[in-house]
Amino acid sequence: MTAQPATLREAVAADREAVIALWRAAGLLVNPLNDPAADFALVRESGHGTVLLAEQAGAVVATVMVGHDGHRAWMWYLATCPDKRKRGLGRVMVHAAEDWARARGLPKVQLLVRDSNLAAIGFYQRLGYVHEPREVLSRRLDNWPVKLGGQRDDEPLVITYLEMTERPAIRRIEPPGLKLTLLRANPPTVAFYRYLYDAVGRPWYWTDRKKLDDAALAATVQNPKVELYVLYCDGVPAGYAELDRRRDGVIDLVYFGIAPEFIGRGLGPFLLASALETAWSYAPSRLTVNTCTLDHPRALPMYQRFGFRPYARREVPPPWARADWAAGPRPAD
Ligand SMILES: CC(C)(COP(=O)(O)OP(=O)(O)OC[C@H]1O[C@@H](n2cnc3c(N)ncnc32)[C@H](O)[C@@H]1OP(=O)(O)O)[C@@H](O)C(=O)NCCC(=O)NCCS
Repeated sequence: MTAQPATLREAVAADREAVIALWRAAGLLVNPLNDPAADFALVRESGHGTVLLAEQAGAVVATVMVGHDGHRAWMWYLATCPDKRKRGLGRVMVHAAEDWARARGLPKVQLLVRDSNLAAIGFYQRLGYVHEPREVLSRRLDNWPVKLGGQRDDEPLVITYLEMTERPAIRRIEPPGLKLTLLRANPPTVAFYRYLYDAVGRPWYWTDRKKLDDAALAATVQNPKVELYVLYCDGVPAGYAELDRRRDGVIDLVYFGIAPEFIGRGLGPFLLASALETAWSYAPSRLTVNTCTLDHPRALPMYQRFGFRPYARREVPPPWARADWAAGPRPAD
């Protein structure tokens, strides 16, 4: 169907309520942290953007907010009145926003869309928009607490230190239906280690090893007393366990984790049991591990189920609040 005749113009202050009503009807006001009236005012006062609207018979039937950040044009609040969809209005609004950008010499227009909003993604693809493999990182500047891993970003991290001094009676249970292979990377290349560390640790804010340059990282992970065991699931790296044997008689399970795509298939207990078997084969006097509130909430109970006992607990400011936290002293052994 083609667009019904619609008048296109920039919104003025008096349009505010009608525009916000349309945004509400289109389901765009789901995040209570976004104040649509403030957004409407800010873009118009910024000098870098505007709200465009389409009117039919005096009613606002479609909108788009367009602006630029000094580099690229952006679109927000694209909405067509629910009973006017699939008649070309959405396309008209996007083209109007593109014209606005083109007129200012901007080479590209882009937008953020929730990955669950498949309808909008389908619509944009129909109009020639492509997915860009980018990650969006953000930080709130208004002190609104945000959940990071298992905790709020305004709370201290709690690190729990655990140990076991006797070989536990553990059974290694292989999850059924998966082709699992456990291989020691001996030694891992730096690139492979960096890949694994990110693949497994990214959701849990593992950053310590990312701060090391290649030489420093190689000195640690290629040390013969540091053992890296990689679990492959149907040929794909699905997780790893790293045993550090550099202290006499003590083995630290320094990193342990399953990549997000493989969580929930019983691989954690399988890998942990395997790592403990290997560790105890060296007959240490003590095995240690630590976990913090950024980690998966099931990590601590799993370690305890396998025989680790907490022996110390430390609260530290989160790393984004204190740069040197990782270098802080470990609790006395
Ligand atoms: C997304 C939205 C603006 C589309 O508006 P619309 O007026 O229905 O879109 P149009 O009629 O201009 O459609 C343009 C083209 O996209 C296609 N299209 C529309 N919705 C689509 C969908 N869900 N999947 C695939 N294609 C779609 C249309 O078929 C049309 O293609 P055609 O001309 O070849 O037939 C509207 O659905 C809406 O307001 N959604 C809610 C708000 C929203 O999610 N906004 C985006 C936030 S990022």
